[in-house]
Amino acid sequence: MYDFAPPADCSPEERYALLNEAAAAITHGEDDAIANMANVAALLGEFIPDTNWAGFYRMVGSGEAKELILGPFVGRPACIRIPLGVGVCGAAAQSGAAQLVEDVHAFPGHIACDANSRSELVVPVLRDGEVVAVIDLDSPSPARFGPADQAGVEALAALLSDRI
Ligand code: SME
Repeated sequence: MYDFAPPADCSPEERYALLNEAAAAITHGEDDAIANMANVAALLGEFIPDTNWAGFYRMVGSGEAKELILGPFVGRPACIRIPLGVGVCGAAAQSGAAQLVEDVHAFPGHIACDANSRSELVVPVLRDGEVVAVIDLDSPSPARFGPADQAGVEALAALLSDRI
């Protein structure tokens, strides 16, 4: 049994350090991408409070046919395919840069998978300079995510680069 749990009163920095320690441990020596994404999605759901969706979209296809396809997550069922450049995930995938969105209603093209979502953080996972997936966190609270969340999820993305 895995029993990872952050203390209730830790700072965001400590919380992400513990999350990333748990993610490193649970994916260590395992090369199955789906299993690793599934376990990390579960960890995100357990470690990051005030989120209603946490998980992965994978970059699939090549050249003009590249798109994002839904991967392992915790939360409500979500849209399956996202074209590059569309919505918050598509923007992160196309630019290769994290998207920190305080108000999803103000983001042009935002895709509302869960009507409760108010803010969102999407971080690309890069391998050899190419986006291979994005990590998506949604919150029902406006402006839920800040620089500490972005830095923490970017560290997680770097850790997962060759594990998904
Ligand atoms: N809101 C995202 C779509 C994915 S869901 O939030 C799970 C977007 O605009 O890309």
